[in-house]
Amino acid sequence: MADLRIDNSMNELNEGTEQEVHYIEDIDAASDFELKHTPNIEIIEEASGQTVKISIGLKGISHPQTEEHLIEWIRLFVGDEMVGDVGFGPTNVVEASFKIKRDNQPVIVQALCNLHGIWEARA
Ligand SMILES: [Fe+2]
Repeated sequence: MADLRIDNSMNELNEGTEQEVHYIEDIDAASDFELKHTPNIEIIEEASGQTVKISIGLKGISHPQTEEHLIEWIRLFVGDEMVGDVGFGPTNVVEASFKIKRDNQPVIVQALCNLHGIWEARA
């Protein structure tokens, strides 16, 4: 019989949260539910690096921000390294801006919805 032992090792990017990370595989087939949870990443090239502007929701579909249902945090990674995070409450606008030096590394943003888990986008 096969060994069905479960591997509980966590994704390095997700250390400490023990939650599955959701992401859109095909933007053209994405549901409104997926679109409203996915981080929107805008990267502005500058002489000394980049400015990353982050909001939540794609194609004009935005996520609620209420006591009952909200984005609690966003985290920014450049490559494997977390370089910034911001927490939000129900009265906050969920937007953030960071200055980075990406050096050809992927820029990854994760956002946590209190009801629907962690959502990730890459740029
Ligand atoms: Fe949600």
